[in-house]
Amino acid sequence: MSRELSLAEIFQLGYYWETKILLTAVKLEVFSELEGRAKSADEVAERIGADRRALTLLLNALVAMRVLTKEGDRFANTETARRYLVRRAPQYVGHLLLLHDAEWNNWGKLEEAVRTGRSPVSRHVFETDPELGSNVLSVLHRIGQQSGPELAKRLKLDGARTLLDLGGGAGTNAIAFCQTYPNLTATVFDLPATLRLTERTIKEAGLENRIKLLPGDFNRDPLGGSYDTVLMSDILHYQDSSTNAALVKKVFAHLLPGGRLIVKDRFLDQSGTSPAWTTAFAVHILVNTERGACYTTADALKWMTEAGFESVRELEPTAVVEGVKQG
Ligand SMILES: C[S@@+](CC[C@H](N)C(=O)[O-])C[C@H]1O[C@@H](n2cnc3c(N)ncnc32)[C@H](O)[C@@H]1O
Repeated sequence: MSRELSLAEIFQLGYYWETKILLTAVKLEVFSELEGRAKSADEVAERIGADRRALTLLLNALVAMRVLTKEGDRFANTETARRYLVRRAPQYVGHLLLLHDAEWNNWGKLEEAVRTGRSPVSRHVFETDPELGSNVLSVLHRIGQQSGPELAKRLKLDGARTLLDLGGGAGTNAIAFCQTYPNLTATVFDLPATLRLTERTIKEAGLENRIKLLPGDFNRDPLGGSYDTVLMSDILHYQDSSTNAALVKKVFAHLLPGGRLIVKDRFLDQSGTSPAWTTAFAVHILVNTERGACYTTADALKWMTEAGFESVRELEPTAVVEGVKQG
């Protein structure tokens, strides 16, 4: 068993002031405003439309947090802020922080959610704010480009010819899989607003002739032709169990005999207490989706068995499961 937390660590856990200071600075575009040269609080306040005294307090705190530097009365970005928090920087990750900031009010309703078991929201971010959803996916795409090819190799898709990437987002997996397997063609199915981003990433990868886009709602709309492989990556935690069971059944009908359904998600272990990140993610899902949840791999295997898959198994603990349709 891991060691118990000290009192100091408990205080640290309960202390979120710096979190909100950073998120607010990203929202106010403080780092983008400081791009290129150091500026006084007066200058920044005028540019972003802020109160000088209040902004000075925020900037001073950011200096103490080591995201900005200060010389005299002038503030400047650190190298890290320059690289990741300036909107025009190629490695900008601010969209992810903007998502956290947008979800701040939902987190404020955690007590109510725990008391009632009901979520404060009725729809998830990809429905309520497609632009923010796409921006977040574009950051995740950049990060995922490193892990995608490894996943593709581990899944051993050598014999596959047609892949459906359901809720495929920026197309990160479809692109990595097609790059790894030259005989594979893919369809990325997603909400129309998300596919605007996917179109760009596929073009950037030069795979327009091998990856096509299919817009729609995967719970309501047809999923196109038959496929020999279907991937569901990080989509099931947004939905309740019966919706997921129905979706797995629908996918089963679109698989060719011998075809594989691969589900990759943030699963909890049977105890519900591990992986640590996923236990907190499950609470995030509680307050930021209407009926989502973090499931176990046993849940996913059950949906597959009930849908008619002949052989089902966990490929990677708390991460990847597969079902194979009878050949
Ligand atoms: C967390 S992202 C996962 C993206 C991608 N599969 C990956 O692993 O990188 C969830 C995706 O599901 C899509 N999505 C959510 N609900 C959907 C629905 N009802 N129909 C189609 N796509 C949906 C979102 O637009 C988003 O692209």
